Amino acid sequence: MTPTSLRRLLAAAKTTQRRAHAPYSKFRVGAALLTKSGKIYTGCNVENASYGLTICAERVAITKAVSEGHRHFEAIVVVCPSAKPTPCGACRQFLAEFGDMTVICADSRNGKRVQIYRLAELLPHAFEL
Ligand code: THU
Repeated sequence: MTPTSLRRLLAAAKTTQRRAHAPYSKFRVGAALLTKSGKIYTGCNVENASYGLTICAERVAITKAVSEGHRHFEAIVVVCPSAKPTPCGACRQFLAEFGDMTVICADSRNGKRVQIYRLAELLPHAFEL
């Protein structure tokens, strides 16, 4: 990934983070997913009064991309106000459905805190049917 595409992905994730619907947790998450064909799909968390119905930012990005015909992903950027802004376990499994990819995690309170992982490193032994 070039520094330019990393910057574009981070900017897209931050813009989308502002659109989060998080009135219950007040914890806003933004995601930007890069397809192997170079397109970017974004997502934010969408909470619900029935808490368990909440959808995470990463899953919104994946479902948007898949519903537009994309299944091959290069990387996902996740931005949230945490020192450990890694995707939750459910999202790791949801991402792993589409193979390994780079996972870039950024703390929106500190622009310099960016961690880069491979999904397989965050979720070894993913469930397979
Ligand atoms: N959340 C995400 O959007 N992605 C994750 O990987 C972890 C958690 C959201 C769900 C909920 O709206 C808020 O963060 C607090 O858990």
